[in-house]
This record gives sequence, structure tokens and C-alpha cells, in this order.
Amino acid sequence: MSAQGGVLQAAGEAAAAIQTVSWVLIAGGTVIFAGVMFLLAWALRRRGGPVRPAVWVLGGGVLFPGVVLAALFAWSLPLSPAWKPAPPAGALVVGVTAHMWWWEVRYRDPSTGAEVFTANEIRIPTGRPVYLALASADVIHSFWIPQLAGKMDMLPGRIQHLLLSASQPGVYRGQCAEFCGEQHALMAVHVVAQEPAAFDLWLAAQARPAASPATPRQAAGRDAFLAQRCDACHSVRGVGADSRLGPDLTHLGGRMHLAAGTLPNTAQAREHWLAHVQMVKPGARMPSYDRLDTETLGALAEWLGALQ
Ligand code: CUA
Repeated sequence: MSAQGGVLQAAGEAAAAIQTVSWVLIAGGTVIFAGVMFLLAWALRRRGGPVRPAVWVLGGGVLFPGVVLAALFAWSLPLSPAWKPAPPAGALVVGVTAHMWWWEVRYRDPSTGAEVFTANEIRIPTGRPVYLALASADVIHSFWIPQLAGKMDMLPGRIQHLLLSASQPGVYRGQCAEFCGEQHALMAVHVVAQEPAAFDLWLAAQARPAASPATPRQAAGRDAFLAQRCDACHSVRGVGADSRLGPDLTHLGGRMHLAAGTLPNTAQAREHWLAHVQMVKPGARMPSYDRLDTETLGALAEWLGALQ
């Protein structure tokens, strides 16, 4: 599954509207450009005779752009998501809060009503409108999944809304689209669209606490997590304290990437990330744990990967 699509490969209703507007503007702009070039060539070759400047200035410079721009505005107005401010019936509401430099994602467990936390990967069911409540914990970020919807700024102290949907299962890559500090470029987000039944199973699994260690090595990893006080920032539900300063790791093993799309979620990459955070993503709020021995790092990486 490719996750590199752009604005002109729309995979949902909101993005399809933007794609249509883009094509109309590209086609219309091309016709007008060709017309202007034709008139320019005609004017350069013309010899003598009146050209009636008032007709050209008023007609070509005022009337024509006035009519065309007003028509485009009226046509595109109903396509704008800003004119659909409330969640439609049956929409899935997902909270997304941007942090420097990762994404906190919140759902409601449909059976208990409890909040379910995850990070950097937003799973959605296909064919159902998804109403995102976007916020920021620090500076201005911008939420942008080109194949699914337009950009929406994420502002501190304010909640913005964005409606999107995916018509087909797939992975849709997004990127923070507002400069937000030194790791702005390493602030990717992935939307994973699944069939509704698969999504329901996934959400039910996310609502459960972390799996117990299945091997002595995994248990050693969990013990290192507690000994290093990783739980002062990261929540692994059922293990240690419940902190929300860093990404929730309760089901980290089921995600595709680490550190907001920065690394693939493999055992080797997890170990590398733990030891060299400040080399991979300088300025991130987590220190490098290069003082830990390789056995401890390996156990931590294995335990985190087992948190499916
Ligand atoms: Cu967050 Cu750029």
C-alpha cells in the first residue's frame, strides 16, 4: 500500500471537492493564459488602425475577471468544509492534539464511553464521515492529509474541526503543514482506513490495557520501563503511572512507525530510537538512553514491540 498520494489523488469526499476545484482552476487558468498569449501575439503583429482601448480595459480588465471570479467563488462556496460546521449524523468523532513533534489521538470507547488514547496513527472506518476535533498543546501546527482533506491549522487554546472520509481502505500519509520548530519536518501522521468491522475490532483492542509480558525478556523490558521512570511521561495502561506528557505506548507494537513517521516500527529501530533519540530527532522532549546496556535496550525494544 502506497502512502505517498497527493492532492490530485483524492481518496475521500472532502478531498474530491478540492481535487475538482484544482482541476477547474488549472484548466481555466490554461485557457485564459493561452487567450492572453494569443492576444499579445495579435497585438504585436498588428499595424495601425484604432484598437478602442476603453473596450479592452473595461471588458478584459474589469468585466471579464469580475464575472469569472464571482462565478468561481459562488460555485466553490458550497464545496468548502467551513460551511459544514457540525458533525453529520453517524460521524465518528476523533480528537487529535498536536505536540512538538507528535500527534495525540483520542477516541471514545463505544461500549464504556471511556477515552482511548493512541498516537501518530489515526485509524478510521471506510465510508463513514470522520469529524476531527483538532487542538494544539504548545505552538501552531497544521493538520494535512492531502488525499483526504484540506489543511486545518491547530491552534493553542482553540478547537478546530475538520470533516473527512475515506472511500477505500488504505494508508494515507499526512504531514504537519505549519512550521513548528526544529523537528517540524519529522512530524508525519498516517491515517489508516479499514473496513468498519475491522475498525471496530481494532478500537475494542485499543481500549484494553496492555498485554502482560509473555517471556522473561519482555518482563525485563517492562521492569526497565518502570526502573527508568519512562512512565513519568508515557502511559502504558496497566503498567506504572498514567502520564500524558509523551505518546501513549499501550499498544505501540501495532503501529507502523515510531516517532511520528520517523522510523519503521521494527525491533532494531525501536532499540536505535531509545538509545539515540537526540541523534535521530534532535530537540525531541525525550533524552537519549545510550547509558543503558544493550541487553536492557533490547529487552525494552522487545517488550514495546509485544504491546500489540
Ligand atoms: Cu507541527 Cu510543524
